Amino acid sequence: MNFKMVAVFVLILAVTYAAWTMFTGPSNAGGGTISIPEFSQTAQSGQIAYEENCATCHGDNGTGTDNGPPFLHAFYKAGHHGDGAFLNAIKNGVRAHHWRFGNMPPVEGVSDAQIRWITKYVRELQAANGY
Ligand code: HEC
Repeated sequence: MNFKMVAVFVLILAVTYAAWTMFTGPSNAGGGTISIPEFSQTAQSGQIAYEENCATCHGDNGTGTDNGPPFLHAFYKAGHHGDGAFLNAIKNGVRAHHWRFGNMPPVEGVSDAQIRWITKYVRELQAANGY
């Protein structure tokens, strides 16, 4: 192989990798892939509050962690856990019932407005991923 062929080969690899990451997006904890939508303004505010208050357990982009469940899951579709479930979970905490992560403690210092933004953020993520 001469230098030119190596250069072409490297270029092909780079383009393939770029296309791959573009189409698959960031991967979640389970090794699958998720879609990140273009968030509305409200959801973008929600994302900030989510990352500060919820992501330690519910994971980046709602993909879950060892401490809490993913929101990209059939359990948390809007029809099963309505928006009131978010308000209630944050204010009062959640007794473990679906999972074995333990209870969710109430989350202090999140305003009612932030709760609405977070809910919108999660709903937009869910919609983009078929939940
Ligand atoms: C300390 C970890 C932890 C943090 C922080 C946390 N959660 Fe949770 N959350 C959990 C666990 C664990 C469950 C699952 C309980 C079960 O059903 O077994 C849960 C469940 C939920 C549910 C489902 C409630 C239901 O009715 O089943 C919602 C909604 C929720 N969390 C929202 C949030 C939001 C929004 C935040 C951030 C403001 C947050 N959580 C922060 C651990 C956490």
